[in-house]
Amino acid sequence: MEKKKILQAKEVVKIYGSDPKNQVTALDHVSLDVFEGDFITIMGPSGAGKSTFLNNISTIDLPTSGSVKINGTEVRTMGEIEIGRFRYENLGFIFQEFNLLGTLTILENIAVPLTLKNVSRAEIVSRVEAIAKKLEITALLHKFPDECSGGQRQRVAIARALVTNPKLIVADEPTGNLDSKNSYEILKLLKDLNENEGVTIIMVTHDSMIASYSKKLIYIRDGKIDGIIERGDYTQREYFYRIVEINSQESQDLFYEDRHMMEGKE
Ligand SMILES: Nc1ncnc2c1ncn2[C@@H]1O[C@H](COP(=O)(O)OP(=O)(O)O)[C@@H](O)[C@H]1O
Ligand SMILES: [Mg+2]
Repeated sequence: MEKKKILQAKEVVKIYGSDPKNQVTALDHVSLDVFEGDFITIMGPSGAGKSTFLNNISTIDLPTSGSVKINGTEVRTMGEIEIGRFRYENLGFIFQEFNLLGTLTILENIAVPLTLKNVSRAEIVSRVEAIAKKLEITALLHKFPDECSGGQRQRVAIARALVTNPKLIVADEPTGNLDSKNSYEILKLLKDLNENEGVTIIMVTHDSMIASYSKKLIYIRDGKIDGIIERGDYTQREYFYRIVEINSQESQDLFYEDRHMMEGKE
């Protein structure tokens, strides 16, 4: 069966800054097709444009030029209300800053996307309880965010992203603040959603081990796609080594640049 293309980014350019002397080209004609069931990780050096790319393909931001279609609809042509509804019906966002609301309990925080969808109180509670169980945070439901640890707050943020059963999860360093045990648990959960529930995932990470759980790696450098590795028939270990390799190329380049600078060469 042919896989459904759920997202198509074509020649996406993002330029920050209106003053021509002070502009940053964060994305330089980036194209990517995402199919239902994909699990893509995005890696690359700091400042390469990873977050910008994620934001520009997921309705958080609009590109300076180029096209982004989600489920065949050009995002640029959608109105604010349509985009809002679309987000809550299709997308789950996981960011490194948890953005939990301090005056709401954990239960209420997780329920936020559902209250925007006009779901009955009883159903909200049962859906929050179900996702909380999956993330092992049931005991936290009546606490407030500042009574929870960083790892617990990240789980809550993930529960909030998943409570609407999104078809596409967009995650920017979702394990960035977590220790390796918590990171692994989150990864297992994302992998399970991808493999058993057909959820499509696009995730930025700087951790090669975490990236090795994905099916495809996009390496971004200087606002461009600089390499793509497909897991394909590789074992996870082989895939992991290829990911380490593409990342170490980057640190070698930096090392040589540094050495040249120290030696006063160009
Ligand atoms: N809101 C912004 N205004 C101006 N420049 C920005 C903004 N956001 C990011 N940038 C710049 O765009 C480039 C890419 O940033 P970003 O997408 O955050 O990189 P990454 O996530 O790969 O670290 C960087 O040079 C960064 O300084
Ligand atoms: Mg970033």
